[in-house]
Amino acid sequence: MFQTSVNSYKPHILIADDSRGIVQLLRSFCEHEGYRTSEAYDGFQAIQMTQTLQPDLVMLDMNMPKASGLDVTKAIRSDTHLFDIPIIMLTGLTGREERLKAVSAGVSDFQNKPVDREELMLRVRNMLRMKKMSDLLQEHNRELEDLVQQRTRELEKVLAEVTEANRSIHEGYAETINRLAVVSEYRDEDTGMHIKRVSLNSREIASALGMDSGYVENLGYAAVTHDIGKVAIPDQILLKNGSFTDLERSLMMKHTVIGAQMLSGSNSPYLNMAEKVALTHHERWDGSGYPNQLFGETIPLEGRIVSLADQYDALRTQRTYKPAFSHKKTYDILTLGDQRTSPEHFCPEVLSAFTRIHL
Ligand SMILES: [Fe+2]
Repeated sequence: MFQTSVNSYKPHILIADDSRGIVQLLRSFCEHEGYRTSEAYDGFQAIQMTQTLQPDLVMLDMNMPKASGLDVTKAIRSDTHLFDIPIIMLTGLTGREERLKAVSAGVSDFQNKPVDREELMLRVRNMLRMKKMSDLLQEHNRELEDLVQQRTRELEKVLAEVTEANRSIHEGYAETINRLAVVSEYRDEDTGMHIKRVSLNSREIASALGMDSGYVENLGYAAVTHDIGKVAIPDQILLKNGSFTDLERSLMMKHTVIGAQMLSGSNSPYLNMAEKVALTHHERWDGSGYPNQLFGETIPLEGRIVSLADQYDALRTQRTYKPAFSHKKTYDILTLGDQRTSPEHFCPEVLSAFTRIHL
């Protein structure tokens, strides 16, 4: 049978003892201090009332029917909602072993029977003060956690908006670059398919070389504009069917420098890489390329990759002076050489990555 005095402004103490006389005595002590009390007369009832009422402190008799004070203590300490409730154990036992068992079970403090009122109330006040501080700390932690969760949600929302804005800008940028690059191909190529194939092949080679996804993505965009300087080459040279004069060849070679100039001075990592690619995609590993006769690793990796990807696509494409070669024949020319092309033109590591892809 539960007996509860209600005063919502005062700490709430559960008194559990099978002796009604002791319960009455303890209740009078507590009420004198202005505390609310509830009473239980066996261990099982004490557990139930603790779970239901969640008091601020529990006074427990060590020896009670149905469940001992130790059992009640263990039940309270194992409950995540109750584990921090202070427990004062009332006992006539003074043995060291019994006290150690009680401390091990989670008892906060002891009070020997017969009870000393002044000492007991002093212990109760101390326990309640600690409980109040613990409650305040937990409440503060909860508020902080709520605040962190709220801020996290706000940040996630902003991040999602920024990500979407970046994606939109990125798509617009990529489309603009592609359309710009198509202009450079429009007069002499299959309206942009060449630059798409070179871009794709460059990405595949970069991936095979183990470059990270950011590099591969950048190179995909940079490769698109490798011949953008051709917009400045006159039609009579760009579209000429016969072989070039020295002057025409020299002008044609300038598409590398012109393209790099067109792409220079940007803060964009895409355009910075694109500038390097435009300038160096006709350089050769053995130093026989143009415009600066760079050789070996003085040629930026992106230029070495696009050089091979561009050459592969040129061999696979029909020209006025040659048919479209099969993949097998193109592979053989790049790896074994012919009258115009030599494996020494290409970075060995890049060529090796290419062969791994196309074997
Ligand atoms: Fe070119």
